[in-house]
Amino acid sequence: MKNILTLCFTLLLLAGCGNEPKKEKFTYKRTKTEIKPVVNSTRLVLNSNDLMMFDKNLLKGQAGKEITLTLNHTGKIAKEFMGHNFVLLKKNVDVDDFAQRAVIAKDNQYIPEGDETIAYTNMLGGGESDSITFTVDEPGSYIYICTFPGHYQIMKGEFIIE
Ligand code: CU
Repeated sequence: MKNILTLCFTLLLLAGCGNEPKKEKFTYKRTKTEIKPVVNSTRLVLNSNDLMMFDKNLLKGQAGKEITLTLNHTGKIAKEFMGHNFVLLKKNVDVDDFAQRAVIAKDNQYIPEGDETIAYTNMLGGGESDSITFTVDEPGSYIYICTFPGHYQIMKGEFIIE
């Protein structure tokens, strides 16, 4: 009998221990860490579609500053029929001459041989995207086109470097 009482008492003690208020051992303050991206490059998005159009005919960047351009083909037609690219030409390039030579450069994604481009994307089909990063050192007005056969007269724009 005594043993049972002792056991009961012990159990009560144990239960009592369990009811002790829990103490916070550590206090800490949750701080929000904001990661701010370092803005040292201009990001541009240019869309093209099944209607053979760019959504912008004027783009701007800064001289000597990195420019990242993403070209999206928001249409559905395959690149064999409605391919689009973005080709930024150097100053004083004869656009008509360049575009005509591009037509026969199918094996090189319609980029003719030579040193007339500053930057260009891959030729894209519907649903595809490509990003390129480049820098233009000299301020001024530049021309960009799509070199897919028959597109450049409509798919053309001005790229201003300030
Ligand atoms: Cu095109």
